[in-house]
Amino acid sequence: MSNIKTIDPSKVETRVLHKYLLSAVAPRPIAFASTINSDGRVNLSPFSYFNVFSINPPICVFSPSRRGRDGSTKDTLENIKQVPEVVINIVNYPIIEQMSLSSTEYETGVNEFTKAGLTEVPSKIVKPPRVKESPVALECTVDDVIELGEEGGAGNLILARVKMVHIQEEYLKDDGFIDSLKLDLVARMGDSWYCRANEQSMFEIPKPGRNRGIGVDALPEKIRNSHILTGNNLGRLGNLESMPSSDEIKKVKESSEVKDIFDRLSLEKEIETELHRLGKKMIENDEVSEALAVMMSNQKIKEKN
Ligand SMILES: Cc1cc2nc3c(=O)[nH]c(=O)nc-3n(C[C@H](O)[C@H](O)[C@H](O)COP(=O)(O)O)c2cc1C
Repeated sequence: MSNIKTIDPSKVETRVLHKYLLSAVAPRPIAFASTINSDGRVNLSPFSYFNVFSINPPICVFSPSRRGRDGSTKDTLENIKQVPEVVINIVNYPIIEQMSLSSTEYETGVNEFTKAGLTEVPSKIVKPPRVKESPVALECTVDDVIELGEEGGAGNLILARVKMVHIQEEYLKDDGFIDSLKLDLVARMGDSWYCRANEQSMFEIPKPGRNRGIGVDALPEKIRNSHILTGNNLGRLGNLESMPSSDEIKKVKESSEVKDIFDRLSLEKEIETELHRLGKKMIENDEVSEALAVMMSNQKIKEKN
């Protein structure tokens, strides 16, 4: 068990807390926000304090903070106060470098579309343009701005109501929904780290079923305390909707792999370890129900004896 470092936010400088929280609360999606001021000047900047928080009504929230060095506010916030509209452009891998470039603190009035070499496309219902190169763009009106403080580092929550969604069709599957594998999204982490959601990094976890999973606490003690199985393995077993029946256990006992374990070994502990190793392999192969039956096959034997 590793030691724990404990931090009291009131006892550390803002820039220190910033480093810890941004590394810990990650990866964060990126809102590439395009806004416009009352003179019609366009601004485009990325914000990773961002997420979708409601579908009905459809509300996204992002936060341009006050600058740590002097508590000053960012152009995005000032623009929204003048014209309460924003297009949240979603950032994927093909535009990550241009997105990063646009976070440069250019003087007020400089259009980051031009600086970053991205293309403005007029929006359908709001004044700020959208980014043509973004895979998805959300035209939003701003319901509210919640200012969280007046010092450096204070967030300003922009509650943005989604009024129109644009999706590049190349990112759609045959069923009309977004293909997450194709989208190639990127997210912000601590320091200068980003991460990329693509085929190499993505994986699926079956959702807990409508009928509740049995829970880790329902598993036999020897399985719960196994030194072979990981927490993830136990979580997957706990997601099963029922314990294996005696017929299922009988069936796995007839499989060549289980038979081989009982033929080769005689010590109870060794048999248990090997059954857990086989069970772990099966869980990772998505044969979860059979895996539990395998790991319970020695217990049945003991009951019979
Ligand atoms: C990936 C990324 C995420 C960022 N997220 C935020 C954020 O959530 N809040 C914030 O205040 N600044 C964030 N920044 C910094 C702003 O983009 C930067 O201060 C920008 O210059 C603000 O532009 P503006 O003054 O034109 O609004 C981020 C920068 C990058 C590159």
